[in-house]
Amino acid sequence: MPTPLRIAVLASGRGSNLAALIAARDAGTLPVEFVLVASDKASAGALRLAEAAGIPTLALNPKSYPDRPSFDRELFARVAASGADLLVLAGFMRVIDGAVVAKWEGRAINIHPSLLPKYPGLHTHRRCLEAGDAEHGASVHYVTAELDGGPVVAQARIPVGAGATEASLAERLLAEEHRLLPAVVGAIACGRLRWNGEALFDGQPVTTPLTVAQLS
Ligand code: GAR
Repeated sequence: MPTPLRIAVLASGRGSNLAALIAARDAGTLPVEFVLVASDKASAGALRLAEAAGIPTLALNPKSYPDRPSFDRELFARVAASGADLLVLAGFMRVIDGAVVAKWEGRAINIHPSLLPKYPGLHTHRRCLEAGDAEHGASVHYVTAELDGGPVVAQARIPVGAGATEASLAERLLAEEHRLLPAVVGAIACGRLRWNGEALFDGQPVTTPLTVAQLS
């Protein structure tokens, strides 16, 4: 058996994307070992999910640090100490210091609820509705210093449809996120998706975001 990819997950909230990763691991379809789930919120549901799954957890309070870089340095030092090969940001709602994140180039991915480069930041579902878009979606990208700005490797798309609300869009999209993120992590775990100064899938540069079907 090849060594499973060691992953650390950062999450600020409920943790449904973390739950999807754990479920895929438990189903035997995702060859990963969870080495750490860390949060900037001690009350995050993601931490409770991790505890229940027997995964080491860490909560660090940003208010205990003099500034953002100090917090980020400590958090990422703890991630590095966990032995993670890959860092997965799954609902981690903080901007990360550029110098800190630079050390994780090609080893950290983030899931974001929009068709990037559209709508980085917050309130993506509302902004999609306000723009009158026919289509919405979620993206997984490699993390860079720019907020939600690194190279996109995969996307899932849904039609907005008549009568969609912010809540209904968020709910429908979340179901897609729960397929997309495990598919991307799985492709990294089996070596089909890798970083060599740029994202490569089956040895070819990723010029158009991959779909779940392509990744599976
Ligand atoms: C997800 O929709 C994720 O795409 C989003 O936060 C939510 C976390 O949900 N991430 C961002 O907005 C990052 N910019 P979860 O805690 O249930 O996985």
